[in-house]
Amino acid sequence: MNVETEKSARDLLAFYTEAGVDAPVQETPVDRFADDTPTQAAAPARSATARPAASPAPMPVAASSAPAAPEEAAMSARELARSANTLDELKELLRGFEGCALKQTATQLVFSDGAPGTRVMFVGEAPGRDEDIEGLPFVGRSGKLLDRMLAAIGLDRSGVYIANIIPWRPPGNRTPTPQESAICLPFIRRQIELVDPDIVVCLGGPSSQTLLGIKEGITKSRGRWYDYDTGKRQIRALPTFHPAFLLRSPLQKRLAWRDFLAIKKALDE
Ligand code: URA
Repeated sequence: MNVETEKSARDLLAFYTEAGVDAPVQETPVDRFADDTPTQAAAPARSATARPAASPAPMPVAASSAPAAPEEAAMSARELARSANTLDELKELLRGFEGCALKQTATQLVFSDGAPGTRVMFVGEAPGRDEDIEGLPFVGRSGKLLDRMLAAIGLDRSGVYIANIIPWRPPGNRTPTPQESAICLPFIRRQIELVDPDIVVCLGGPSSQTLLGIKEGITKSRGRWYDYDTGKRQIRALPTFHPAFLLRSPLQKRLAWRDFLAIKKALDE
């Protein structure tokens, strides 16, 4: 590689890093510039309305490969989630669900870790890079902190169940859009119902707002108990800071510690 090509490659990599691209999605690179197939024909249509208006006879689109319109996707998510009778069935239904575009860029589904049948369930926002690679929630830096916080109250992953609102990594770890959260919500709600814990701990603002339907930010809502209706029964839910936030703001660990003591107390009751 000559010096100029190498510099261009480095500049491109720097640009990717700045844009949040920090992991490959395929083993081998794809030269998009070499592909002169017309994109309209190659790309799956998003919905009937996404086809070019000039097209006289739209090609039929395989239902299984076309991402649905958001309302359709949310409706299909509700129906699918309702039809799952076990966590394994739910996982398989999610694996085949095409309604959330995040699936296209993620490496794999990140469904859960820990043990179903335990009394406390933690719900985060969405997997990050490490979770996307390993296929398990909270295995990166924030997961390590979560493990230490659990240990501080005498728990480990065999004594809790862990999942996320969104089971696919958003590209560059961006915040999931409200639409993506709304589409995935029926699945996590069903997951909670099937795990049937006594307590749900929402890690961070997005998880608390999505699951509990509250407007307050996490600074206000953390440490307060909320009622959560699983569809089967009413349980208690506690918003607390996300471990990733605690890594950036270690002084707030003091408040998170209070929340974890409250979880321990509730489990001891
Ligand atoms: N952050 C989350 O919200 N979930 C994970 O699984 C990892 C990081």
